[in-house]
Amino acid sequence: MLKDVLEQGRTATDAALERLLPPETQHPVSIHKAMRHSVFAGGKRLRPILCMEAGRMVADTTPYGIDELGAALEMFHTYSLIHDDLPALDNDDLRRGRPTCHKVFGEAIAILAGDALQTQAYEVLASLHCHAQWRVKIIKEVARATGTTDGMIGGQVVDLEAEHTRADATTLEYIHRAKTAALITACVVSGGLYAEANDVTVAKLRSFGQNIGLAFQIVDDILDVTQTSDQLGKTAGKDSAAEKATYPALFGVDESVKKADVLVKAALSEMDDFGPRADTLKSLARFLVERKK
Ligand code: IPE
Ligand code: IPE
Ligand code: MG
Ligand code: MG
Ligand code: MG
Repeated sequence: MLKDVLEQGRTATDAALERLLPPETQHPVSIHKAMRHSVFAGGKRLRPILCMEAGRMVADTTPYGIDELGAALEMFHTYSLIHDDLPALDNDDLRRGRPTCHKVFGEAIAILAGDALQTQAYEVLASLHCHAQWRVKIIKEVARATGTTDGMIGGQVVDLEAEHTRADATTLEYIHRAKTAALITACVVSGGLYAEANDVTVAKLRSFGQNIGLAFQIVDDILDVTQTSDQLGKTAGKDSAAEKATYPALFGVDESVKKADVLVKAALSEMDDFGPRADTLKSLARFLVERKK
């Protein structure tokens, strides 16, 4: 059942993160406290879960050590959240139901905590329990997905530059594909690579990831409009306040819901070739659009 997949995936990810991050008592303690404050704050762990399930689909069993790949991906994601919340970016006070990293530890330590999570993540990737050939492919995949060319940082740049500009549909789609779908795609693809997937399978996983990744950010925009800060654990209504380029702002909520549904349907049909082995990934795809936080 999906509930068990989400629960077990979260537990496995949290255990790996606990092992792989320096303890709070490690000198210098302020940075390790800040990293752990943001990592262990109740994230959904959807990226590691997608990665592990992609690996499981390819290998037909959960590949040994893939939880560490999942943990590394969650470190990249949490780094992006810490920086996204900084006063110079979205200027948010609340994240994962807690005060944001810079609110508790100050801006300097928050910037460094984001940097440190990224550095730690690469160390984990370099130590993955798979053959070096696949490890290098995974490192390249994740580096590209989080970089400036159609990757997460590039998307964040255009997201900021598009504030107050009434961005058109092309720019909006670029922002969402780059800032969010790229990393989600890398999660699915790297899970497949860890399980030594062939090129055809990798291409299908990539297309699946791109579709659910774009749907994921459309839903994030919708939830910003339709939910409360209490429900989300982050400040609701902030996108329109900052005049961000979002799907609801350009198309309205109903049309945005339809667009997310179309993308998920395309993602589901991409997985048909894999038969029942793809069932969990498919239910995860549906969950991404049905989620309420
Ligand atoms: C929030 O991601 C940031 C986006 C890219 C939309 P999630 O909704 O996965 O946040 P957590 O990890 O559960 O806190
Ligand atoms: C976040 O987009 C994308 C990232 C790369 C972190 P948002 O700015 O919409 O994410 P939230 O709503 O603050 O989580
Ligand atoms: Mg943002
Ligand atoms: Mg934000
Ligand atoms: Mg958002």
